[in-house]
Amino acid sequence: MTLRMFAADLLVFGSILSAAWCLSVLNVSVPKTLNSTSGSCLLIPCLFNISKEKENILDSSPGGTWRRGSLWSLYDTDGFTIAHRQKEPVMEVVGDLRQKNCTSVMRNLTSLHSDRYYFRIQAVNFSVTGTTAVHINVSESVAEPNVTVPVLREGEEVNLTCTVPAPCPSHPPNVTWAPALGGDVTQRTHLNADGTQSVSAILNFVPSVHHHELKVNCVSVLPLHRENRPLLSHKVVILNVEYPPKETWISLTGLVWLGDNVTLTCQSKANPPAVHRWFMKRAGVEEELSISRVLSFTAAHENTGEYICEAQNLYGAMNSTNLQITVLGDKPRSERLRQCVCKCSEKPAASVKAM
Ligand SMILES: *[C@@H]1O[C@H](CO)[C@@H](O)[C@H](O)[C@H]1NC(C)=O
Ligand SMILES: *[C@@H]1O[C@H](CO)[C@@H](O)[C@H](O)[C@H]1NC(C)=O
Ligand SMILES: *[C@@H]1O[C@H](CO)[C@@H](O)[C@H](O)[C@H]1NC(C)=O
Ligand SMILES: *[C@@H]1O[C@H](CO)[C@@H](O)[C@H](O)[C@H]1NC(C)=O
Ligand SMILES: *[C@@H]1O[C@H](CO)[C@@H](O)[C@H](O)[C@H]1NC(C)=O
Ligand SMILES: *[C@@H]1O[C@H](CO)[C@@H](O)[C@H](O)[C@H]1NC(C)=O
Ligand SMILES: *[C@@H]1O[C@H](CO)[C@@H](O)[C@H](O)[C@H]1NC(C)=O
Ligand SMILES: *[C@@H]1O[C@H](CO)[C@@H](O)[C@H](O)[C@H]1NC(C)=O
Ligand SMILES: *[C@@H]1O[C@H](CO)[C@@H](O)[C@H](O)[C@H]1NC(C)=O
Ligand SMILES: *[C@@H]1O[C@H](CO)[C@@H](O)[C@H](O)[C@H]1NC(C)=O
Ligand SMILES: *[C@@H]1O[C@H](CO)[C@@H](O)[C@H](O)[C@H]1NC(C)=O
Ligand SMILES: *[C@@H]1O[C@H](CO)[C@@H](O)[C@H](O)[C@H]1NC(C)=O
Repeated sequence: MTLRMFAADLLVFGSILSAAWCLSVLNVSVPKTLNSTSGSCLLIPCLFNISKEKENILDSSPGGTWRRGSLWSLYDTDGFTIAHRQKEPVMEVVGDLRQKNCTSVMRNLTSLHSDRYYFRIQAVNFSVTGTTAVHINVSESVAEPNVTVPVLREGEEVNLTCTVPAPCPSHPPNVTWAPALGGDVTQRTHLNADGTQSVSAILNFVPSVHHHELKVNCVSVLPLHRENRPLLSHKVVILNVEYPPKETWISLTGLVWLGDNVTLTCQSKANPPAVHRWFMKRAGVEEELSISRVLSFTAAHENTGEYICEAQNLYGAMNSTNLQITVLGDKPRSERLRQCVCKCSEKPAASVKAM
C-alpha cells in the first residue's frame, strides 16, 4: 500500500469518524426533499438538537448557515465554498436558534440552486454541521394542482378541493375555481406534517343535472419576482353528477303487423345508467315481461296491449307513458305481400297509439 492510498483511506476513515461524532452532537430534522420554483422563495422547516455538552453555545448567539454539496465535500470547506460561492443562494435563518429552531428562507431562487444542503452552527470557538441533508429542487414550472372531487349527487351540497403547495409562504399562490357553479370559493392555508405549507381553494356548491359533464378549472397563480408575469398552473375536472331517472320513454322501430318482428327500446336519462323493466297490461291484467332495455317479439294477437317501461337506478325510478300496441292483420306477412303489391303502401302499416 502506497503512502498516498493510505492517506486517502485515513481521510475517508476520519470523515466517517467525524460524521459519526457530529451525528451525536447536532441532529437536524428537515424534510427529505423540498420543491420550489425559479423566481420564488423557499421556506425550509428545520429543528435541531444539540448535545448537552455543547448546548451552552446557543447562549453565545451563534450563526446558522447552510452548506451545499455532498456529505464528504462538507469537510473540505475552503475549496467547496469558493467553487460554489457564485451559485450560492441567499439564505436566512428565520427561526430562533435558542429555541433549537433553524427554519430558514432561501430567496431569489434559480434552478442552479438545486442541490443538497446541510445546516451548520457556527460559534466563536466551535462549529458543527448536521449530517441530514435537505434535497432542494428548484424548477422552472409548478406542479399541477391536486384536485379532490367527491361523489356528486343532485341536490346534495359538496366541496371540491384544489390544493397547491406554497413553498414560499410570504408569496403564496392565489388558487381559484372557475366557473364557481353558483357556489362559494374559500381559500385556506394548511400547515403540513413536515412543516411545509399549502393553499387550498374549496368550492362549496349544490350540484344539479345541468352541471353534469361540465368542465371546471382550478387555477393557481404564483407571483414571481423574476419577471412581472406570474406563473400559472391549472387542472380541469369534468363533473359527473348522479341523479335519478329524469325522462323515460319507449322508442319503437318496426311495423306491427302479424308476424312482424317488433323491437321496443326503453330510453332514459339517468346517472348512473338505469336498469329497465318492461310491463304489459292486457284485458286489465298486468304482468312483468322482462328486465332488459330492449324488448323484442314476433307480433302475434296476444301482443296487443299497453306497454310500460320503468327505469331505475340507486336514486329512484320512473315509468314511461303507456304505449298501446295493436297487432293488425290475420295473415302471415309473406302472403300479405303477395296479395297486394301496390296497395300496401297506402294502408296504415301499424296502429301505434301512445296514451
Ligand atoms: C417534488 O416534485 C416532484 C416532481 O414534481 C414530486 O414527485 C415530489 O413528490 C415533490 N416533492 C415534494 C416534497 O413535494
Ligand atoms: C430532539 O430531542 C427530542 C427529545 O429527545 C426529540 O423528541 C426530538 O425528535 C429530537 N429532535 C431532533 C431534530 O433530533
Ligand atoms: C442524535 O441522534 C443519535 C441517534 O439517534 C443519538 O444517539 C444522539 O444522542 C442524538 N443527539 C442529540 C444531541 O440529540
Ligand atoms: C420555527 O420558526 C418559524 C419561523 O419563525 C416558525 O414559523 C415556526 O413555528 C417555528 N417552529 C417551531 C416548532 O417552533
Ligand atoms: C433578489 O431579487 C430582488 C428582486 O429581483 C432584488 O431586488 C434583490 O436585490 C435580490 N437579492 C439578492 C440578494 O440578490
Ligand atoms: C467557547 O468559549 C467560551 C468562552 O470563551 C466558553 O465559555 C465556552 O465553553 C466555549 N465553548 C465551547 C463549545 O468550547
Ligand atoms: C424536481 O422537479 C422537477 C419538476 O417539477 C421534477 O421533474 C423532478 O422529478 C424533481 N426532482 C426531484 C428529485 O424531486
Ligand atoms: C392529493 O390529495 C389527496 C388527498 O388529500 C392525497 O391523498 C394525494 O396523495 C394527493 N396527491 C398528490 C399527487 O399530491
Ligand atoms: C364544506 O366545507 C365547509 C367549510 O369548510 C364545511 O363547513 C362543510 O361542512 C363542508 N361540506 C361538506 C359537504 O363537506
Ligand atoms: C385571486 O384571484 C381572484 C380571481 O382572479 C381575484 O379576484 C383575487 O383578487 C385574487 N386575490 C389576490 C390576493 O390576488
Ligand atoms: C324475425 O326474426 C326471426 C329471427 O330473428 C327471423 O327468422 C324472421 O325471418 C324475422 N321475420 C321477419 C318478418 O323479419
Ligand atoms: C311502473 O309501472 C309498473 C306497472 O304498472 C308498476 O308496477 C311500477 O311500480 C311503476 N313504477 C313506478 C316508478 O311508478
